[in-house]
Amino acid sequence: MPEPKKGAVVITGAAGDLGSHLVSKYAEDGFTVIAADIEPVAKRERVVPLVVDITDREAVFALAARAADQAGGLVSWINSAGIFVPTDIAEADEANWHRTIAVNLTGTFFGCAAAFEVMRNEGGGRIVNLGAVAGRRGGLDVHPAWAASKEGVHALTRVYAAAGAPHGILVNAVAPGLIESQATQLFADEDRERLTESHPLKRLAHIEEVAAAVRFLTSPEASYVNGTILTVDGGANVGH
Ligand SMILES: NC(=O)c1ccc[n+]([C@@H]2O[C@H](COP(=O)([O-])OP(=O)(O)OC[C@H]3O[C@@H](n4cnc5c(N)ncnc54)[C@H](O)[C@@H]3O)[C@@H](O)[C@H]2O)c1
Repeated sequence: MPEPKKGAVVITGAAGDLGSHLVSKYAEDGFTVIAADIEPVAKRERVVPLVVDITDREAVFALAARAADQAGGLVSWINSAGIFVPTDIAEADEANWHRTIAVNLTGTFFGCAAAFEVMRNEGGGRIVNLGAVAGRRGGLDVHPAWAASKEGVHALTRVYAAAGAPHGILVNAVAPGLIESQATQLFADEDRERLTESHPLKRLAHIEEVAAAVRFLTSPEASYVNGTILTVDGGANVGH
C-alpha cells in the first residue's frame, strides 16, 4: 500500500542552521518541504527549494499558494528566517533597526498572514514562529531591534492563535536562548565565552534541542497547544 500523502511544510530561513536541520527532519518524516530562503537551498528528494525574500509580501503569498498546490495541501508553516546584528547598544544604527524589524517582524507577519489564508480555506494547520528569550528579557550585545522584533513575534503569535482557533489553525512560537550556531559566532569570542560561562548549564543550546520543540508544536501530540511561547533556553531565565 502506498504511504498516505503527508502534505507540505513550508520552512522559511531554510538555508540557516535551524532551518536546514528542520528541512532534513521533515523530509525524512515524509513531508514535502518547501524550503524558502533568500539564499539558495539545494534540491533533493521531497525538498522544493525556493528563493524568497520574506520582506516581499507578494512573494510570501505566492509561496503559500505553491504549498497549497502540493499533494495533501499545506499542513505546517515555520517562520525561521531572521537576522541578528551584534552591536554595542551605544552604536546601534537606524539602518539595522529598519532591516531587523523588516525581516524578523514584518517578514514573520507576512508568513503568518499567507499561511493563515491558505489554512483557513483548507480547514486547519500549524504555524510556528521563531521568537527569542531576548524578546522577553532584553538582550545586550545585539542591536535592540533584535529583542523588539522578537517580542513583536511573540505578540503576533498570540494574535494569530486567537484568530486561527475557530478555523483549526494552531499558532505557537519557540523562544530559544542562544544557540551554538553561525549566528552566535558573530559575537566577539570574549562575549560568547562570557554568555556561556554565565549560563546555568554552562553551554549554549544545540540546534537539535530547539528543532525538537518546533517539531513538537507541529506534531499530533500538540493538538491542544495554542498561543504558547515555548521557551527553550536551558533555564537562562531562572535563578538569577
Ligand atoms: N541562533 C540563535 O542563537 C538564535 C537565538 C534565538 C532565536 N533565533 C532565531 O531562530 C531562527 C533561526 O536561527 P538560525 O540560527 O538558524 O539563524 P541563521 O542565520 O542560521 O538562519 C537564518 C536564515 O534566514 C535567512 N534570511 C535572512 N533574511 C531573509 C529574508 N529577507 N528572506 C528570506 N530568508 C532570509 C538567512 O539567509 C538564513 O539562511 C531565527 O529566526 C533566529 O532569529 C536564533
